[in-house]
Amino acid sequence: MGDGGVGRRTFLAAMTGSGTAAGAVATDAAADGTTGTAAAGGREEEIRALVGRMTVAEKLGQLQQLSWTGATGPGGSQTAAAERAAKKGELGSVLNILGARHSNALQRIAVEESRLGIPLVFGLDVIHGFWTTFPIPLAQAASFDPETARVDGEVSAKEARSQGIHWTFSPMMDVTHEPRWGRIAESCGEDPYLTAAFAAAKTRGYQGTDLKAKDRVAACAKHFVAYGGAEGGRDYNTVDVSESRLRNLYLPPFKAALDAGCATVMASFNTLSGIPAHANSHTLTEILKEDWEFDGVVVSDWNGVGELLPHGFAADGADAGRIALHAGVDMEMVSTHLADHGEELLAAGRIKEERLDDAVARVLRLKYALGLFENPYVDESEAVPGPTPEARQAAREVAARSMVLLKNEGGVLPLAPGKAVAVVGPYADSRDLHGTWAGPGGEKFPPVTVLHGIRNVAGRGAKVTYGVGATKAADVVVVVVGEGAKLSGEAASRSDLGLPGDQEELIAAVAATGIPFVVVLLNGRPLTIGNWVESASAVLEAWHPGIEGGNAIADVLYGKVNPGGKLPASFPRNVGQIPVHYNHENTGRPYDPENPGNTFITGYLDVDRTPQYPFGYGLSYTTFELGEPRASVERIAVAELKRGERIEVEVSVRNTGEVAGDEVVQLYVHDPVASLVQPVRRLRGFERVTLGAGESTVVRFSLGAEDFGFWTNAVDGRFVVEPGRLDFFVGTSSRATASCTLHLE
Ligand code: GLC
Repeated sequence: MGDGGVGRRTFLAAMTGSGTAAGAVATDAAADGTTGTAAAGGREEEIRALVGRMTVAEKLGQLQQLSWTGATGPGGSQTAAAERAAKKGELGSVLNILGARHSNALQRIAVEESRLGIPLVFGLDVIHGFWTTFPIPLAQAASFDPETARVDGEVSAKEARSQGIHWTFSPMMDVTHEPRWGRIAESCGEDPYLTAAFAAAKTRGYQGTDLKAKDRVAACAKHFVAYGGAEGGRDYNTVDVSESRLRNLYLPPFKAALDAGCATVMASFNTLSGIPAHANSHTLTEILKEDWEFDGVVVSDWNGVGELLPHGFAADGADAGRIALHAGVDMEMVSTHLADHGEELLAAGRIKEERLDDAVARVLRLKYALGLFENPYVDESEAVPGPTPEARQAAREVAARSMVLLKNEGGVLPLAPGKAVAVVGPYADSRDLHGTWAGPGGEKFPPVTVLHGIRNVAGRGAKVTYGVGATKAADVVVVVVGEGAKLSGEAASRSDLGLPGDQEELIAAVAATGIPFVVVLLNGRPLTIGNWVESASAVLEAWHPGIEGGNAIADVLYGKVNPGGKLPASFPRNVGQIPVHYNHENTGRPYDPENPGNTFITGYLDVDRTPQYPFGYGLSYTTFELGEPRASVERIAVAELKRGERIEVEVSVRNTGEVAGDEVVQLYVHDPVASLVQPVRRLRGFERVTLGAGESTVVRFSLGAEDFGFWTNAVDGRFVVEPGRLDFFVGTSSRATASCTLHLE
């Protein structure tokens, strides 16, 4: 995953093969056959001409996004305000508008009743499904198969665009080491490389190659940046990171998403080393717009501009608007400080017309790319009314592919069809399977419950009972526990990661029966499960699996799908252990296996130094064996790598069991001596392979400078590849031990 590249084609260029920001490489022919430069020049000319015709009030209006319904807090329901502003041609965008009929009605006001008829762009949080809820993004990451995210993006875009939505505030790509943070559910976990792969895939799923298409929406890389670093895992809390950690841990997924053509970026609520992200010209302008040549739209988060006041960074609303605009925010979501104060700020020379015009041009550019000037309305007769069978099947497959088998003793899984199964627990027949940010589908289309799914898959004659009372006659008990969606997502940080309520008591009661039991976890974050995991014969991590959750869980329990997922975030043994992630530094006092009695090492007196389960871990119903990894060369000159030379690391993998299954072969890099202390492991390759019983294959990883180097603490951004030894570890989790080395000269 490249993060060492400089410059990039603009999202417009990536979308239509046209449009090049200054300095970006000219592109191939545009969709309409004209050469990129000509089409871009034409469109840019149109944008400049339109900006030239706009009044200051109309320009400021283009930078305003209001919420249409269901908004509480600072924006409230701004429907009436939106209609008034649209009529005056002083509104750029609306979020939370639902239904093609409503969006067309509001669009008609903007297009047919305002002076210039500039169309509105409609945004919505389509995070893991519009009608068809897919598993939460953290679950999708557990599949270690970015195709799952692309499919979610594609299905979601088709449903959303048909209902009048042009723009989704997704993918979220905040790397985090904090399972206490509720928004880990929306993330892809603790690793930047995995997150980057999913960010790019989901962007492609949403956007396709032409934003004008009736089944595509503009994507939004969020939250820019380092939101997942919130101290204590408390949402919205302080983030204080070095430049190197910003560039090595938090930024790579954003670069990958923009390299995939992501049309927009959303600023984050947190401060970054004392500067709020909404006021941070270093990240929003120097890195994003100058280094990366991003020519799309930066939208604030909800009232993010207004929050510069409580942050203690802006003196009043006018100050907040001025600061945000000049830091690099182009559109203000829900708060209206720029619209309210922009004219006076401009007249007083406190904001520059050039910056204002640039922001307006970015918004117009997005609308052109979406085809809204040619076709501002959506065909209501083509509105997708709900999940189709194909969409549900896709969601079912993605959910099963995302599940992680944490434990399976005595071959209790997969369940044999003839077994008498008792299904118990607060989530056994619960509809709380959609997870956070479930979108309109979460409200309208209940999921398949676990009990329902088990009855579907076990078949007619199966003996499936429900409730604790039924356990006596059971051969095996399935205990379905977890945390509800309300404990997950935004403003849902937890200080205790145990199963809420008396669920642990329920597990103990089932254990006391002596009947083998399986625990199915439905959760939006890593949990602390040490109190009961030993007592369970099997544990299946099913996350919040979405609309087809019950069927997907049953598919895995009965072996119709052999689980192959891996943990995208480490499971801590207790909250005190956090942060406990695989990509940590070694410290000067690491654990020394040669000297296990030495207690003067980094760790705790009262808990093991390792997590309950590590990043990249997951079992299968079969077993796999990996050979020794081999590098294609033993040494290579740094200069050759910088010229683009690549090396390969290959490893054989064999299915040594009785049934077909998936394994995720993972490659980690470690630089043992560097001018900046390096993590003990960095994921730089993964491949999920499916093998029949006894089958084998060879997995090959192609690696280059971007995999061996790192960003330094230089504020102007310096990516270095240094001579010396590199160790490669290849295995089926971040605990991989099989290794080979490469010498950089
Ligand atoms: C929320 C979230 C952001 C979301 C936005 C609009 O506060 O932080 O992710 O896209 O508001 O709903």
